Amino acid sequence: MSEKTGRVFSGARPTGRQHLGNYLGAVRNYVDLQDDYDCIYCIVDIHALTTLSETGKLREWTYEMALDWLAAGIDPERGTILFVQSHVPQVTELHTILSMATPLGWLTRLPTFKEKVRQQPDNVNYGLVGYPVLMAADITLYKATVVPVGVDQAAHLEFTREIVRRFNNHFGEVLIEPQAKHTDFPKVLGIDGEQKMSKSLDNHIEIAATPEEIQQRVMQMVTDPQRQYRSDPGRPEVCNVFSLQKFFSADQAERIEQECRAADIGCVDCKRLFARNLADYFAPFRERRAALAAEPDRVWEILADGAQRATAIATAVMAEVREAVGLPPRR
Ligand code: TRP
Repeated sequence: MSEKTGRVFSGARPTGRQHLGNYLGAVRNYVDLQDDYDCIYCIVDIHALTTLSETGKLREWTYEMALDWLAAGIDPERGTILFVQSHVPQVTELHTILSMATPLGWLTRLPTFKEKVRQQPDNVNYGLVGYPVLMAADITLYKATVVPVGVDQAAHLEFTREIVRRFNNHFGEVLIEPQAKHTDFPKVLGIDGEQKMSKSLDNHIEIAATPEEIQQRVMQMVTDPQRQYRSDPGRPEVCNVFSLQKFFSADQAERIEQECRAADIGCVDCKRLFARNLADYFAPFRERRAALAAEPDRVWEILADGAQRATAIATAVMAEVREAVGLPPRR
């Protein structure tokens, strides 16, 4: 590719329209990484099959997520590859080969696996156990050198590194051991001010929301619970609205903080201001999104092009892998 400092790979399950938590925690960072790395971003629809409740929405959620990512600045014209995992089926072949190099105990001991077993005790399927192996296949199929990870994926990345070492020890230096790039943004809470923002809890604000929808959601946000009357001084350090103001109203945050502590500004006014700034921040995004959505095939075409470019890399790597593990050549 180019003179950039390495190749980034990241994947996310198709969850449809993105919310502020997705944006601040991942998407924004994916956009920025394009400055320094060759980037490959993957919508991991096969991973989503491990939790069956989501599968009816896979197409719609893939489309909506890709649309949000592209509108947010993930830019194939800058060389970035954006594609859908299942469009490059070589990943399942590598997954199978890597699974032979994976001790089962490594998988069943992972806290993420144990958590899933607690969440869906009636659906502890074979694919769920292999979830991290598929993730390792994603990363290694494209010889990624860097993977941006939050705390929740740190164990999975460590697992990838271990499989790579084991594989390379056995079969020769074929796969690349990726480095973790820690990119934690302070946890984004939902409008309830208590739980992590998430679509399933319906406490989220979509980045594609209209200014009216933003206003409506923001007005429902929980602020400092101890501030009951307008005349009570507020505590910005425990207020979820303020924590987001710091990002979306950066140049006004200091003043808001002082006025809140002095009870010079009330929560209603503070939220109105926040809603306005949030709507302004995403105005260019909404415009780009509407332009892309005006031609519905456009997103699928971009994804098809991404799959084609990803396939070129995957095909070369799989040829090396097959040879390294000793599979007989096909003539
Ligand atoms: N396991 C990740 C998650 O649940 C998604 C994922 C799949 C991923 N493949 C990946 C992340 C490769 C980084 C790199 O969020």
